[in-house]
Amino acid sequence: MIGAYSLSIRAFDAADTDAVVALWLDAFPEYKDTSKPQRDPHLSIANKLATQPELFFVAVRDGRVVGTVMAGYDGHRGWLYSLAVDLAERRRGIGAALVRHAESALTRRGCPKVNLQVLSAKADVRAFYESLGYRADEVISLGKRLGSVA
Ligand SMILES: CC(C)(COP(=O)(O)OP(=O)(O)OC[C@H]1O[C@@H](n2cnc3c(N)ncnc32)[C@H](O)[C@@H]1OP(=O)(O)O)[C@@H](O)C(=O)NCCC(=O)NCCS
Repeated sequence: MIGAYSLSIRAFDAADTDAVVALWLDAFPEYKDTSKPQRDPHLSIANKLATQPELFFVAVRDGRVVGTVMAGYDGHRGWLYSLAVDLAERRRGIGAALVRHAESALTRRGCPKVNLQVLSAKADVRAFYESLGYRADEVISLGKRLGSVA
């Protein structure tokens, strides 16, 4: 519960799958980009259930999933992914509660620093994270897509 607002945050359960996929399709338009088949919400869920599933959280209000966040800890840094709040439920503190919940779970594992990436175009999301104490690091983000294992 946060304040008088009835909200709970718990680990993702397989029964949440349809609700989470629906939420992500709304919150992340890139999931609808058919030119990027690697962006498959069901695959993201399956992969997370195979790796630190206890760090995949949903926010639930009146039995309904209204937010998600994934965290990971690789033994050196923690990472946050897939933070999303139902459009109708935004600006009520749910996103902040999810981030703090994930931060606490990482801290309990001994994680000293958490990183995350925000698309440059998303100025509102950057403002959200800055309100929670996040600051841009003096780094550029590099990535490489890996092939499948033969
Ligand atoms: C980012 C997101 C999760 C924020 O969730 P939320 O529940 O609305 O956030 P909160 O209510 O906890 O906001 C906390 C503070 O962040 C800041 N903030 C939140 N949304 C903001 C916005 N659109 N513009 C500017 N500041 C914002 C405010 O300071 C806010 O406090 P206030 O409402 O008292 O002013 C939500 O907007 C979302 O799901 N966006 C689409 C998905 C996405 O892009 N996720 C991030 C991927 S990196």
